[in-house]
Amino acid sequence: MASVAILVQSLDVRFGTFQAISQLAVAIDYGEVRAIIGPNGAGKTTLLDVISGITRPQSGQVFFDETVDLTQRSRSEIARAGVRRKFQKPSVFDALTVRENIDAGVEPGFWSQRPKSEIKARVDEVLEMVGLKDDAGRLAGELAHGQKQWLEIGMVLGSNPKVLMLDEPVAGLTDEETERTAKLVRSLRSPQRAIIVVEHDMDFVDRIADRVTVLHEGRTLFEGSMANARTDERVMEVYLGR
Ligand SMILES: Nc1ncnc2c1ncn2[C@@H]1O[C@H](COP(=O)(O)OP(=O)(O)O)[C@@H](O)[C@H]1O
Ligand SMILES: [Mg+2]
Repeated sequence: MASVAILVQSLDVRFGTFQAISQLAVAIDYGEVRAIIGPNGAGKTTLLDVISGITRPQSGQVFFDETVDLTQRSRSEIARAGVRRKFQKPSVFDALTVRENIDAGVEPGFWSQRPKSEIKARVDEVLEMVGLKDDAGRLAGELAHGQKQWLEIGMVLGSNPKVLMLDEPVAGLTDEETERTAKLVRSLRSPQRAIIVVEHDMDFVDRIADRVTVLHEGRTLFEGSMANARTDERVMEVYLGR
């Protein structure tokens, strides 16, 4: 297996005349949790949009497993390949139960050949992972905000993604919910998976990330440990600088 899960090269994204991403290069390895941080408008969500095939860059490549250029693939091809995304705003099916939501998230292409019992076992496993086993029969619409976030992560986990992207997973969560989310993210870390987390909460990033990439105006300002990011002068200036 390739050791680099996602390799971004010479990436340029423009919206009209606005340059959202400029000649960006990032390499994310299997086995790591990488946090992408940076001020509002730095290009973090845009980067996830390019990796997931939602936004097409003006130039550059995004290699998955070192060979597959995701900028040439459709959103569904990218998802089926195991590159999956949880969006910023939870979008669970309120009128379905927690179990039905996780079942709906199991990637059809991935599982269509498998027996029903195996799918059910996987759904049970995911319910356990995201801590919603006792809520399996409840309607998703009745869940607390934090539980909805975990449910949506569960919907993405059904297909055992190789690249898991989370956009601001602890926005609006209580301290206790944030703590549980940190434990969940760490528990999902695996040699067969790369986890990319876009987040504002620095203490959360400190707890989950092996490395951080600090974006500023669509470029990499810093890459390394969160501890070193906190003491980097340029990072302090544009971001942590209080
Ligand atoms: N579809 C779009 N059309 C025009 N401008 C956009 C679009 N998406 C993002 N932008 C702009 O690109 C910049 C980067 O946005 P974004 O990637 O969402 O930032 P971040 O997630 O780091 O806060 C922002 O200035 C934003 O307004
Ligand atoms: Mg964003």
